[in-house]
Amino acid sequence: MKTVLVPGGAGYIGSHTVYALVESGAEVVVIDNLETGYEKAIHPKARFYRGDIRDCAFLDSVFSHESIDAVIHFAANSLVGESMTDPLKYYDNNVGGTRCLLRSMVRHNINIVVFSSTAAVYGEPENIPILESDRTAPANAYGETKLAMERMFGWTELAHGIRYVSLRYFNACGAHECGEIGEAHKPETHLIPIVLQAAGGKRENVSVYGSDYDTRDGTCVRDYVHVMDLAEAHVLAVDHLLKGGKSDIFNLGNGVGFTVSEVIKTAENVTGRPIPVAVAPRRAGDPAQLVASSQKARDVLGWNPRTPSLKAIVGTAWHWHRSHPNGYQD
Ligand code: UFG
Repeated sequence: MKTVLVPGGAGYIGSHTVYALVESGAEVVVIDNLETGYEKAIHPKARFYRGDIRDCAFLDSVFSHESIDAVIHFAANSLVGESMTDPLKYYDNNVGGTRCLLRSMVRHNINIVVFSSTAAVYGEPENIPILESDRTAPANAYGETKLAMERMFGWTELAHGIRYVSLRYFNACGAHECGEIGEAHKPETHLIPIVLQAAGGKRENVSVYGSDYDTRDGTCVRDYVHVMDLAEAHVLAVDHLLKGGKSDIFNLGNGVGFTVSEVIKTAENVTGRPIPVAVAPRRAGDPAQLVASSQKARDVLGWNPRTPSLKAIVGTAWHWHRSHPNGYQD
């Protein structure tokens, strides 16, 4: 049985991936500083060490105590807006933290890592759907640090032989069907949780950031992908590397774009409740459209999303929001 170390395993995508790993029969060790993650989100079967990936002595002690076969690295800050007002926080934690993690992996001879990257590495895309080989030109500091991390993995492989898979997520959403874990950020900035808070009466309305984009209804188009489908891709990526597969980069999305207005209509349909809307100015750094081609992940990893329908995705998110209107505080 393989043992996987998951830095950031108490966060949104990290916690869902830990559930998928446990369900696949893996042993899981989580490390998290709980700055943005929640202890309640950690699967009860995972062993948990609280600490920061920038603390090299802490990382060394975890690697010494545990016999780790592979790492899935989620520990990072991930808010586009915050990255524009505090870019150095992003360089410190995302780039600096990854440097410490890789340094410790080299010291302990661990040579497999899967890592969360983002559609934000592309900036304003040249083509839709976006291919992995398309130009990368981040429009915000968050995307810039993720691209720097990807490049750090590339150089580290050349020098130390650590093989990696970088997964560029499009818009993660939804929740595990068990209802125990879901999406909860502090503060919440993501569209689907905000829309469901409005449906649940916890928010007066949804601000639609811009209605004058060059899209079919003027609002931004995004590719929404179920968090458990993302989680499954991590399990497949670890297996790919454990079987000797080469380092690679994959987009993860469903290949279908929905506008902000379409997401709101879908949520009204799923919840059966009206969702009041207020048009607001554009949000800095938002590209008009982001839609993935994930053909490569399907071909190389055998990835096959099980919940591609937006209605079904919003349904799983609504199940979580209704039972946890205050997130993990409930
Ligand atoms: N939006 C609104 N109102 C809101 C919140 C969002 O209109 O209250 C809009 C945004 O402008 C955007 C869309 O809804 O057009 C989706 O916004 P999210 O904040 O949910 O997601 P983003 O597309 O901004 O961000 C996602 C990931 C980031 C990643 C980024 C890449 O969450 O980690 O894609 O662009 F960096």
